[in-house]
Amino acid sequence: MGKGSGFGKVILFGEHFVVHGVPGIVSAIDATNDAEVKKTAQGLTVKDIRKAATGYAEEKRLQQLESIDRILRAMGIAPGTVSIDILLGGTLPGFSGLGASAASSVAITRGIAEEYGIKLTDERVNEIAYEAEKAYAGTPSGIDNTAATFGGLLWFKKNMTSGANTVEKLHIREPVEIVIGSTGVVANTKAMVEGVADRKRKNPEEYDAIFEQAEALALIGRKALLAFDLKKVGELMNDNHHLLRQIEVSHEKLDLLVDIARKQGAYGAKLTGGGGGGCMVALTPSLELQGRVAKAIENAGFEVLRTRIGVEKT
Ligand code: PMV
Repeated sequence: MGKGSGFGKVILFGEHFVVHGVPGIVSAIDATNDAEVKKTAQGLTVKDIRKAATGYAEEKRLQQLESIDRILRAMGIAPGTVSIDILLGGTLPGFSGLGASAASSVAITRGIAEEYGIKLTDERVNEIAYEAEKAYAGTPSGIDNTAATFGGLLWFKKNMTSGANTVEKLHIREPVEIVIGSTGVVANTKAMVEGVADRKRKNPEEYDAIFEQAEALALIGRKALLAFDLKKVGELMNDNHHLLRQIEVSHEKLDLLVDIARKQGAYGAKLTGGGGGGCMVALTPSLELQGRVAKAIENAGFEVLRTRIGVEKT
């Protein structure tokens, strides 16, 4: 049997903007998707036992099958000839926005490689997972599969003319507690990404100005993170949420979660990932603050994940 894992992620700065070449900052989180892959005799089966928001598995089912097809092709295996069972699990839940599609693609790629005795470098795993991400996100930036493959806290900038993206590891003094709140609303990343591209085409001046601000935020955010100025990082996350509202990727439940988190003292809060539902991330340094924010969100009827950013991969 072949086994593989991929990290979940939160984007601290720059989702959607990264698709268009603006830099972003992403952190892997302490939660993974894990795949077990076993050759069998009767075609391809996928058993997905991940905890997920209601409707997540159904919404992503066809995209998941297309992504596996893409993984096999990228590995030089003709999909029609394959008989394997894939069991997909792990601690990363299927809440939209946490990169679960990329984490699962990385896990499945590594699992298939091990089962077939194929040696893959992390760089190659990342390339294959990027091909798989196209099934979920249309024209993905590559930020999710990069975080899922390599882990850690990363500065990411998509190269708009070739495949050579800029990826830089950022090292911070110590990991920082965060709270992820799930709206429970399953979102379609591909539709969200296409919506932004469409509005950007129709309103070039307005969008260019917003995109410039997003670039500035990523740059100042990087400095604040490296200086470990968490109050500043939080403020900038709030600003980033405002820009995401302006490009119409927020959702009333995301705005509600952001509000709850800020009222409880989170240093900053914003939607994370594709938006339109999915998840909110709040910066909550210390277990005490993390607990308070998480409890308030749970009391309002939402699911949470308590985790940390900036954990170095071991
Ligand atoms: O919603 P998620 O976890 O698939 O994150 C999508 C992030 C986007 O920036 C919206 C798309 C991308 O490819 O970068």
